Amino acid sequence: MSAIRGEFSSRFGFIMAAAGSAVGLGNIWGFPTQTASNGGAAFVLAYLVLAFCLAYPALMAELVVGRHGQANAVSALRKISKPGFGHKAAFTVGFGGIVCAALILSFYAIVAGWMMSATIEPIATFAGQAEAATWLTSQSLSRDLLFTAGFIILTVAIISRGVENGIEKWSKRLMPALLIILFSLIAYVLTQEGAMTGLKAYLVPDFSRIFEADLLVSALGQAFFSLSLGTSVMIIYGSYISKKENLVSLGAYVTLIDVFIAFVAGLLIIPAMYVAQAQGVQIFSDTGALLSEDTLVFQVLPALFESMGSIGLLISFAFFALMSIAALTSSISMLEAPVSYTVEKFGMNRLQATWTIGGIIALISFTIVFNFAALFGFVITLTTQYGQPLLGLMCCIFAGWFWNRGGLLNEIKQGNEHTEHTIFWKIWPWYIRYVCPLCIGLVFVNSII
Ligand code: PHE
Repeated sequence: MSAIRGEFSSRFGFIMAAAGSAVGLGNIWGFPTQTASNGGAAFVLAYLVLAFCLAYPALMAELVVGRHGQANAVSALRKISKPGFGHKAAFTVGFGGIVCAALILSFYAIVAGWMMSATIEPIATFAGQAEAATWLTSQSLSRDLLFTAGFIILTVAIISRGVENGIEKWSKRLMPALLIILFSLIAYVLTQEGAMTGLKAYLVPDFSRIFEADLLVSALGQAFFSLSLGTSVMIIYGSYISKKENLVSLGAYVTLIDVFIAFVAGLLIIPAMYVAQAQGVQIFSDTGALLSEDTLVFQVLPALFESMGSIGLLISFAFFALMSIAALTSSISMLEAPVSYTVEKFGMNRLQATWTIGGIIALISFTIVFNFAALFGFVITLTTQYGQPLLGLMCCIFAGWFWNRGGLLNEIKQGNEHTEHTIFWKIWPWYIRYVCPLCIGLVFVNSII
């Protein structure tokens, strides 16, 4: 089996692929927006604590189960559970995660399509094509269908090439490009008038808000979405890691990069909001509340870019290219979850499986585009607010209760002989058995009440 399975060829390759999955619209758009509407720095602090103390251990559970199973999510979970109830639960959780990944992709592709059309718009404006530019920035069925389909085709084209030549190769190219664009934009925005006020709002916490239930629920949801948990994605990426690698440190790198990029994206977006305000674009109400969350990326920032004159065209192009790249390295991981299952379960060849599943997802996306008001928000809530926390919690229960301590530790030990002396080794099995399920469960129950 392992001979025909793909494997990441290097440590760097895996880190870029998994960090590529983690770093996406959730980091660059979701995190700064949530920060702005949840009290600035207090949210940042809560997020950091939850990401490292709950999301990282949960990520490790998925990676460990995946590498041990050396197979798609359903088979990997079956391997650590007993026939009967255990296997049924494995199917429910593994397949549930795969469906969750596919549904996330179906709305993600629509948003990514907007990002791609916004990337092309400055080019059209530069070329004097005003009519085309207006079409590219106004919501219409034709534009949304075309760009959603285009984005899904790109995703399919990469995934059909497999693990090493598809996922790994493209993540290694796209992630560094993303970093370069991000840092250039920050350097520009921080030199503008108003940026320092924004920086202060972002970095100085209002401690009185830190234990607000809403804030904690949003921060945990954000951390789960951002680390791609509860979607079978990290199980399948874990299964492509060689037994020679140190899983504990790989998972830590991925978490660090993900948190770092979200944090750095905040350094761009929050000051940019204040710069825009200083230039006369209305962002905050008189009481200082954010006027509109949803329109941050598509109205606030474009207004800012427009006020910059011709350099704004270049900046706008760079910004939306950054968004599109971040979205692409995430979407390929979402597609890999159902594709790996179909290939391994039904013996379908990869190319066929990728196009078939890509086609199904495109149909779901189109259905959402046609019924936007009814379905878009619904699918987002269903997957990110319910699906991910619930399935992520189930993965912890699988690793902590269905499997055994010996098995867990044995898997961690491979590629990491000195691990027995670390705190991780001592507390983690206990932690995912009790602490993670309990805390995730509490936050989840709180969010539905
Ligand atoms: N983590 C990605 C982001 O932050 C989204 C994602 C969710 C990717 C689930 C894969 C699975 O945008």
